[in-house]
Parts: sequence; structure tokens; C-alpha cells
Amino acid sequence: MISVKELSHYYSKDGRPAVNNISFEVEKGETFGFLGPSGAGKSTTQGILTGLLKQQSGEVTVAGYDVKKVQNDRFNKIGVSFEQSNVYSKLTAKENLESYARLFDVPTRDSKELLRLVGLNGKENDRAGTFSKGMKHRLTFARSMINNPELWFLDEPTTGLDPTIAATIKDIIKERAAEGTTCFLTTHNMYIADELCDRVAFIIDGEIKLIDTPKNLKLKYGKKLIDIEYIENGKVIKETLKTVTDEDRHRIGEIINNHEIQTMHSKEATLEEIFIQVTGRELI
Ligand SMILES: Nc1ncnc2c1ncn2[C@@H]1O[C@H](COP(=O)(O)OP(=O)(O)OP(=O)(O)O)[C@@H](O)[C@H]1O
Ligand SMILES: [Mg+2]
Repeated sequence: MISVKELSHYYSKDGRPAVNNISFEVEKGETFGFLGPSGAGKSTTQGILTGLLKQQSGEVTVAGYDVKKVQNDRFNKIGVSFEQSNVYSKLTAKENLESYARLFDVPTRDSKELLRLVGLNGKENDRAGTFSKGMKHRLTFARSMINNPELWFLDEPTTGLDPTIAATIKDIIKERAAEGTTCFLTTHNMYIADELCDRVAFIIDGEIKLIDTPKNLKLKYGKKLIDIEYIENGKVIKETLKTVTDEDRHRIGEIINNHEIQTMHSKEATLEEIFIQVTGRELI
């Protein structure tokens, strides 16, 4: 669905590249996460893939089209939710969606239904200019679905939203993914990446450091640990032990045989811990 080969992007001739010779593929139906800290080059990459920024080098095909050539057909197939909401302040929520819907040559979704989906029901006839940041973000998100896109670009889809709304947005993304929509999701939030993505790319300083499934990453880099809480002389003692060293395995057996166990949990490394381990940098 997306193929990127040796793509670089410079905002100025003498500066550092914002994107530095990256290559990756996204399969049809896949939710692919671009995970990296601020300034890593995520939005720049999305901008090139969606035709917002001019491609300077490499080969990029999106939904079967070469992005260097402008084809209106391509826009019927893709949906884009930007990091910064860019809705028309003077238009109402409904008018924002309906004027956007007219740009497409394919059947579009009912504006009222979309607004309800993102929790903006009752606000249909309010001007977008009166909306809070989170509401504008939801309107932008709703708009990105209006043409039932095969390929959906989501830049920081839940950033700045309250947890309930963020959960709604995540559910909508999961539902569409289950229906077969391909998603290209950029975020610096590793929980989102872990929860929604089939594969993630770690991007830093414009370079992709690795691409893998969250599960494989945890198996490969995750420390295999067990937290045990047990009772000794009436007190609760907690120990964290590795399941991979003989000494700790022996100790785990000893505790189980000699004490009453209160809790015992195996612990996985989070994607954030793995990101730091692989790149040496934090996801901020
Ligand atoms: N319009 C622009 N002009 C000049 N430099 C830019 C422009 N947009 C981005 N950059 C630079 O390009 C690099 C990558 O920026 P980009 O917006 O792609 O990062 P990002 O990964 O999306 O970050 P964030 O998580 O903050 O959204 C940064 O160093 C940034 O300062
Ligand atoms: Mg960005």
C-alpha cells in the first residue's frame, strides 16, 4: 500500500536532512506506526506521502500511485488527519465536513453520523471557531474519514485529548483497521503504538533505526522478569528476579517452596524502555 525507497528531505539546502535516506513498506490492511521523539521527521514523512510536501528524492508509491505525479484519483483513496487541526473557523462543524465531502468523486459519509462518532453530536451547527483545541482535533479526525479511505494517515491522533475521547478515537481506529483500512500512524506515544500497531518503525534524527512488531520487540529486547510478593514473618516482601539466570531461577523455586505467595507477575519491557535501549534516546 505504501512503498518508500531511499527518501530524504531537506527544508534548507545547507541544513541537516529532516528525513535521511529512509526505506520501508506498509502492507495492505496493516496499521504501521512511526514512533519517535519530537523533531524525528514523522510529520515530514507523512507530508511527503500525502502530497503536502514536494518529494525531493527517492521513490515513493502510495496506494499504487507515484506521489511525484499528481493524480486526483489518489486523493479519493486516502484520508489525512493532520497534527494541527486545519478546519474553517467560520463554518459550522457540519459545513466543514460537507464542504470537504464535495471535493471527492466517491461516495462520502453522513456528516451527522461522523460527528456523533467523535462525540460532537449537538455541536453540528456550531462554528468550528468556537471549538476547543480537542474539539477541533476531533473534527479534523472525523473529516479524515469522510471518503471511507482505504489508506488513512493519522498524525498524533490522540495527542492533547482527554482520556475518554482518546479511548473513543482509539476504538474507531481499531474498528476501521479490523475492517481492512491501512493506517499510517505517527506518534511519540508508545502506548498508542503498542496498542494499535501491527508493526512499528523507530525513527530518530530522520533515520529509521528498526522496524518490527511490538511483540517481537518485547521478545527480543524485553527483560524477562518476575515480580514476586511473599510473606515472611508476617511481612510482605517483594523481589524482582530474572527468569533467565540460574541463580534467580533457583531463588524463585526457593521462594515458592518455602513461603506463602501473595502475587507473582511476569513483567514485559514497555516499548518506551525498548526504544531507549535501542536508540539511547527518550521518546519526548
Ligand atoms: N516547515 C519547516 N521548515 C523548516 N524546518 C522544519 C519544518 N518542519 C519541520 N522542520 C524540521 O524538520 C525536522 C523534523 O520535523 P518533523 O515535524 O517532521 O518532526 P516530528 O517527528 O513530526 O516531530 P513532532 O513529534 O514534534 O511532531 C525538525 O528538525 C524540524 O525542526
Ligand atoms: Mg509531528
